[in-house]
Order: sequence, then structure tokens, then C-alpha cells
Amino acid sequence: MSQYHFDEVLPRRGSYAAKWSVYAEDVIPLWVADMDFTSPPAVLERLHARVDHGIFGYTMDYPELREVLVARLKRLYHWDIKAEDLVFVPGMVLALNLAAHSIGRAGDGILMQTPVYGPFLSIPPANERFAVMADLQPVATGDQTFSYEIDFDAFERAITRQTTTFFLCNPHNPAGRMLTQEELARLAEICLRHKITICSDEIHSDLLLNDQPHIPIAALSPEMARHSITLIAPSKTYNLPGLGCSVAIIPDKDRRREFENYARSLGVHVNLMGYEAATAAYEHGDPWLKQVLAYCRANRDFMVEYIHDHIPALKTTVPEATYLAWLDCRDLPIPTSLNAYEFFLKEARVALSPGTFFGSGYDAFVRLNFACPRSLLAEALERLKAAVDRL
Ligand SMILES: Cc1ncc(COP(=O)(O)O)c(C=O)c1O
Repeated sequence: MSQYHFDEVLPRRGSYAAKWSVYAEDVIPLWVADMDFTSPPAVLERLHARVDHGIFGYTMDYPELREVLVARLKRLYHWDIKAEDLVFVPGMVLALNLAAHSIGRAGDGILMQTPVYGPFLSIPPANERFAVMADLQPVATGDQTFSYEIDFDAFERAITRQTTTFFLCNPHNPAGRMLTQEELARLAEICLRHKITICSDEIHSDLLLNDQPHIPIAALSPEMARHSITLIAPSKTYNLPGLGCSVAIIPDKDRRREFENYARSLGVHVNLMGYEAATAAYEHGDPWLKQVLAYCRANRDFMVEYIHDHIPALKTTVPEATYLAWLDCRDLPIPTSLNAYEFFLKEARVALSPGTFFGSGYDAFVRLNFACPRSLLAEALERLKAAVDRL
């Protein structure tokens, strides 16, 4: 039994929660990637204490947070970094933009594996670069389950002389895949051979649902580390995305200086509540994390079983990491006037993330966020089933 009350449906409407504010009151929102759970108690205590201090002036970054991260990367991945390798930024999407801008130059190509988290697609053009797609290959893993693999030949064929950056997403959103050591080593070898810097978005690297350990690609070798920018954050892990504190790990000094200078020129800085929360979460949040992962794992299994038993035409991933399932609705007879997202919103009153957010050609896909109380997930699944049954 968990000491935390993840089963409790907490009122989020009226708190300006994005997830709960966009859609009408009769809609169950299972879209944007945050959890409907309160953050670890240690985080709440530390924020309360900081509020009681009462002065909210300009802040330095927190040496304590640097230390805790250095120790954590060593403990989890045997990865040795120095405290100065870390750069704090208020968000991952911002960090991806800073990385895109500080690697290579205008006109360069940025490689990515689609389907992928939407901002990956818009960041290259926003930084005078262009996106180069190397699609992941879907593979069936059961009657109604599927996953994705990398076609390494296609990946290498997508590379041209203008390709200077690879935006890796590992664990992958929305595929839910965690790359193995072999897959990472192959990607690293190809990128190093083509002098491509890897910017690895590892925001989901703590949300592990199986026993497979996460491996940061930069931890494979000192050479890979020098040619990488790794992005991590406590935001998804401890449910703190509204507090805006993410971390770029940039072991190469010159690369780091470019990134930092550009960030400084834009006036980028993390707010002090973000630092407080991140520090408390990384120092004391892991007992909570363990429990929340057990809850999400049970929700994942419940969802996969429900789909198998009640919605036979629907296919789903069984995510190895993240609390996000990617649903293939191509076998549902949805009227052509609606994409899958529109169909479920209109007919089931469930808001999922539209497949179109993750690349072109995904109109018949949706992403479902199962980090919510089981009763809410169950009701949403029943509504999806009822809508499909009426087709
Ligand atoms: C892979 C990935 N990167 C970045 C983000 C967004 O991070 P942030 O809110 O810190 O910009 C998300 C959020 O879902 C994500 O899944």
C-alpha cells in the first residue's frame, strides 16, 4: 500500500492548470504531460519554508543542486561530470532552442526520429535550421500492441553535409521506447563519424516502468560526452513542470560557453522556487518517485488489458518509460471528416493529444496520459469504448 493517495481525484479546475482549463467541464483531460498527483512532501515543505522567508529577490543558482546532480549521475549511470558542466534553464523546450542555436549555423539540418514530441519539429525553423526526419519503424509486439525500432540505414541515409545536430529523445515521447546500449552505441558511432552533435532530451529518464535501466548517450564515452548536450529535468519526474527548472549537461567547455552566452543574452534565468523544488526533489523525492512509478505501471497494465478486452480494433504501445501511451486508431471506422483526436473529444468527451502534434501522417493516432487516479482512467477508457461501439 502506498502512503501517498494517488487514487484521490484532486480538484485542479480553477487552479489555472493547463491540462484542466482548455476543455469544457464534461471532458476528461488526458493530454498534456503532467500528473494529477501532488508532488513529493519534501518539495512542498521546502517551498513552504521559502515562502515563509518572505523575500524573493534575484537568486544565484544553488551549489547544493549541482552537488546532488553530480552525485546522482554518478550513482545512476556511473557517469562522471563536473559541477560546472551543468547549466540551469527554465524549461526543456527553451533548452532545445538554445542547443539548436548554439550548435552549427544557420542553414544546418537537425535530425530527429518521428513521430516525436511536437516542438522538436518547430524548433529548427525557429532557429534558421531545418528538420530532417528519420522515421521510427513501427513493429507489432502482439495482436493489439506495437512498438518502434530504428532503421539505422535510413537514419544514416537521412544525413547530409548540412546535418550538424541530432535531436535524440530517449526515453522517446510518444513511442515510450528506451534505447538499449547497442542501439545507443550505433547511433553514437554514426553521429561521431559524421561530426554530428547529439542533443539528447532525457526529460523522461526517471519515469521507468520496467526493470530496464536508462543509459544517457553521453555516458557511453568521453568522446560522445564532448559531442553532446544532455537535457534532464525534475519536472516530469516529480511533477513540477509549472516551476520551470531544467538542466543542460554540457561537458565541452567551448560548447557550454556558446550555450550559456546565448542564454545570458536572452536574459534566461531559473526562478528561485524552481531551484528550491528541484533541490528538494532530487535530494528527498525518490521514495515518492518509487511509489508513483508503481502506480503508473499498474495504470499502464490496466489500460493495456482494458483495450485488449474491450476495444479490439485499437492498438497501443506498452511504454517502457513515460506515462504516455501512443494509440493507433487506423482500424477504427472513424468518419473521414474527423481525425482520431477530434472523434474522441466529440464522441467520448475525452481530450487526448492529437497525433498531428507529433509529425505529419499521424492523424489516426492519439497519445493518452495515464498519470491520473485509476478511477479517472477507467472512466475515460469506458467512454472511449462506448464511442467506438457506437461507430
Ligand atoms: C520529450 C519532451 N521534451 C520536452 C518537454 C517539455 O518540457 P518543458 O515543459 O520543460 O519545456 C516535454 C513535455 O512533455 C517532453 O515530453
